[in-house]
Amino acid sequence: MTNRYEEAYKESMENPDGFWAKAAEDIKWDKKWDKVLDDSNAPLYRWFTGAECNTCYNAVDRHVEDGRGDQDAIIYDSPITGHKSKITYNQLQDKVSRFAGVLKARGVGKGDRVIIYMPMIPEAAIAMLAVARLGAVHSVVFGGFASNELAVRINDAKPKVIVSASCGIEPGRVIAYKPLLDGAIELSEHKPDATVIVAREEAKAELKDGYDFDYETEMAKAEPAACVSVAATDPLYILYTSGTTGQPKGVVRDNGGHMVALKWTMKNIYNVEAGDVYWAASDVGWVVGHSYIVYGPLLQGCTTVFFEGKPVGTPDAGVFWRMIEEYNIRVLFTAPTAFRAIKRDDPKAEFLGKYDTSCLKALYLAGERTDPDTLQWAQDILKKPVVDHWWQTETGWAICANPLGLHEFPVKPGSPTKPVPGWDVQVLDDAGHPVPAGQIGAIVCKLPLPPGTLPTLWGNDDLYKAKYLEEFPGFYATADAGVIDEDGYVSIMARTDDIINVAGHRLSTGGMEEVLSAHPDVAECAVIGADDKLKGQMPVGFIVLKAGVEKKHDEIVNEVVKMVRDKIGAVAAFKKCVVVDRLPKTRSGKILRGTMQAIADCKDYKMPATIDDPTILPEIDEALQTIGYSSAR
Ligand code: COA
Ligand code: AMP
Repeated sequence: MTNRYEEAYKESMENPDGFWAKAAEDIKWDKKWDKVLDDSNAPLYRWFTGAECNTCYNAVDRHVEDGRGDQDAIIYDSPITGHKSKITYNQLQDKVSRFAGVLKARGVGKGDRVIIYMPMIPEAAIAMLAVARLGAVHSVVFGGFASNELAVRINDAKPKVIVSASCGIEPGRVIAYKPLLDGAIELSEHKPDATVIVAREEAKAELKDGYDFDYETEMAKAEPAACVSVAATDPLYILYTSGTTGQPKGVVRDNGGHMVALKWTMKNIYNVEAGDVYWAASDVGWVVGHSYIVYGPLLQGCTTVFFEGKPVGTPDAGVFWRMIEEYNIRVLFTAPTAFRAIKRDDPKAEFLGKYDTSCLKALYLAGERTDPDTLQWAQDILKKPVVDHWWQTETGWAICANPLGLHEFPVKPGSPTKPVPGWDVQVLDDAGHPVPAGQIGAIVCKLPLPPGTLPTLWGNDDLYKAKYLEEFPGFYATADAGVIDEDGYVSIMARTDDIINVAGHRLSTGGMEEVLSAHPDVAECAVIGADDKLKGQMPVGFIVLKAGVEKKHDEIVNEVVKMVRDKIGAVAAFKKCVVVDRLPKTRSGKILRGTMQAIADCKDYKMPATIDDPTILPEIDEALQTIGYSSAR
């Protein structure tokens, strides 16, 4: 007998139009589509062409119309500041339509871009939804990025307005955002017309008259704005992600397909209904925040949670359990690193015993592979299903998961289980041929991708094709390598590009190398991702100095560490770097980063056949030992 997953999967493969048209019935459309899947411009596919809709209407207004107005839409809990508050759907509708009025008064209309550079406060969601209400396009930039990264995004997205706050708050320090924002605007060629700043009591922002507008003052006098109908294929947001040095990579999300897919996942993957409390402990700056702090739960009529804190230290390793009990949370979604942090501080999970977490139905983990130890620990302490699910900024929702709303599969540790309906996942060798079950290769997804995935990169169809579609014609290249076993379980083993995953944050080692090589004393450099017990991976830098440099090595290392923090941001967590005389290379001059990584991780490696000078490797080993890696660990 087939289970519901098998039926859904089969239908999504054999009749994608019918499958997604049925899912689309859950969305309220201003105008129905002419075509479900439009392949007229393949390989650039579009979903629901001809349809018109508004994402904010479906996430907010429709719930008020359907009688959910008094239900909480957003819970805000900030153990860092001690603030807590709740916003009902009625209140959210009022706030969002007024903030849309504020933006409209600053000239924002359909298709205009608005950058949102915010901490984890509900005003971030209000701003995102207000932009969507106007048919404009938001681009949220994670608060842990420095001015330079923000400037790159300003230049690419060319926002009319930037919405920000006076500060973000990290344990032990207040990060004044306004100087970072001012710095970014100064650095960028494109200048927005205005900024709107949420004043927080922990820091005051200096506002320039006629350019910087205070959020509360403007809200008080705002004229509420109505939802603007847009094409289903119009962009809802741009989310910049790592992966290409030099060129910004702005993942585009459309309105119609995105709503259909996310709403479908809420029931079928996460198994939640309208009225349930759903908590993704991430940040609005990441895709998890877009899909599962803001849009997914609100489209489903759930209550979503804005948590401004950390899994440990705010104030302790019991905060997640306190949240679950206090707000009756049904689903928790976070990164494995958060559970590793809790386990480190409270290995016996003693805090868990202090709270009633019986309301929790399942834990979902993503952002990096869930290592079997963390999986086991989470299963043991929670005694609830723990779902590792694999996805990317580009895909917007899970490619592989244990889809609890359809069927609960037995878990294989280290595997995010099976392809979700809509995803034809295959493993190919370098020549593009399928590899046998159990053998490692490049993981690809057959085109067309399901709705809600990236239709292109912002303003750059060519880069989209070059990065994702050309390596394996007919497929989307995920840049992940892995295997599919005989039972159809997928395992993700490694990235095939320069991306590393640090505490679930996606970072480019190439981007860090660019910063290191800008130091005047650095001749050559390499950055690798070394295994880290807490964060999964940590960047480690190697620099070769120019001939004749006499400055102390420690001084140079401190300078490059500071440069990465200033240019990319604290989130890069770049703290370990060593000076070496030379880097191991192939005879053709390619730096052997993989071998260096294996040495750092104390893993066995094969001496690369093409290595130019094998005698360098012991030098790398020794250098790594001085910073606590390699055989010294
Ligand atoms: N604004 C400014 N700075 C930020 C920031 C933000 N929004 N978020 C993080 N940072 C800073 C941190 O303060 C830290 O700075 P430091 O070097 O001065 O200590 C640095 O960026 C690295 O941050 P992070 O990687 O988050 O590590 P952490 O030490 O703050 O927290 C854990 C580590 C253990 C708590 C981590 O496991 C965790 O849970 N991180 C969040 C996981 C997550 O949400 N991932 C998103 C994908 S789902
Ligand atoms: P991001 O775009 O930040 O979500 O990062 C996407 C990348 O993180 C993927 O391409 C994977 O390399 C990795 N990743 C995310 N979730 C998982 C997971 N559940 N298992 C393995 N790798 C993951």
